Amino acid sequence: MPKVLVSDSVDRAGIEILSQVAQVDEKTGLPLSDLISIIPEYDALMIRSGTQVTKEVIEAGAQLKIIGRAGVGVDNVDVAAATRQGIVVVNSPEGNTIAAAEHALAMMMSLSRYVPDANHSVKSGDWNRKAFIGAEIYKKTLGLIGLGKIGSHVANVAKAMGMKLIAYDPYISNERAEQIGCRLVELDVLIQEADYITLHIPRTEETANLINAEALAKMKPTARIINCARGGLIDEAALAEAVKEGRIAGAALDVFGNEPLEEDSPLRDGGKNLILTPHLGASTAEAQVNVAVDVAEQIRDVLLGLPARSA
Ligand code: NAD
Ligand code: MLT
Repeated sequence: MPKVLVSDSVDRAGIEILSQVAQVDEKTGLPLSDLISIIPEYDALMIRSGTQVTKEVIEAGAQLKIIGRAGVGVDNVDVAAATRQGIVVVNSPEGNTIAAAEHALAMMMSLSRYVPDANHSVKSGDWNRKAFIGAEIYKKTLGLIGLGKIGSHVANVAKAMGMKLIAYDPYISNERAEQIGCRLVELDVLIQEADYITLHIPRTEETANLINAEALAKMKPTARIINCARGGLIDEAALAEAVKEGRIAGAALDVFGNEPLEEDSPLRDGGKNLILTPHLGASTAEAQVNVAVDVAEQIRDVLLGLPARSA
């Protein structure tokens, strides 16, 4: 019987599918050295974002046929090294789309009405209504950077809430943007016109630090920015400074350059205008079942000798 190592916590539904065709070992939180020492016995590896599947892990995995990432991004897998070794890397490109989009929308609403700080204030014994005068999103302009699966869902919901939509995405057509009710604009225009900016792009060489100090300086002082996509898209030090100095109205981040967030990160100091969540975009019961089933089925198929859909 083939052996599958599950090295991050994934939904039981995925484990059950794998158990029909393989011996499944769940070993989460393994130090890298332990992972390298046990990986030679496994035919497949199933992960989320916790396990770093480095070149060394892949080279030690002499029997590995497939690595499955229960989520969208395969940033934590050295895909080039896997490909060189003939190992297929698969993911779940759509399983957490709705969850991530809804988290971005929740962040936008929370930022506008100071929900986290107002909650904390009441629980601490205060009743301070004056400190939390928010802003409405109705009739405001939402600037979407990235109009793919998640960006489009955010756009559709935002439209229904009465927002005007503009987007920057050089890889989609005007027709597609029009279908969604969005006007495609250059990045500079989006940054200057939007009341809310939300990022839904992968982190690549082209997008790293896309929102730097210069871009932040062009935003309206009343504008707010949300990143539920990937860390490294926004210059975190420059963002913390812009929020602290009131040069922009606020920011909400789910993802960071380094995760977990460093203890001394300047972002921790942003007060009620900076909301941070610990990479929760995909953390709904529904999304976790979707991604686990999606990836487990692909691993099962490869172990049965069927063709794979690679990431
Ligand atoms: P997608 O591939 O459907 O869409 C990405 C869009 O970005 C595409 O339309 C593409 O054309 C566009 N794009 C690429 N490079 C660009 C650039 N330089 N400038 C502007 N647009 C660019 O991906 P998706 O499923 O919508 O996911 C978006 C991001 O969200 C990914 O980075 C993904 O890893 C992340 N994500 C995060 C969470 C979370 O837990 N926070 C959950 C799911 C996905
Ligand atoms: C993804 O890439 O799917 C998200 O970042 C969510 C996750 O890490 O599980």
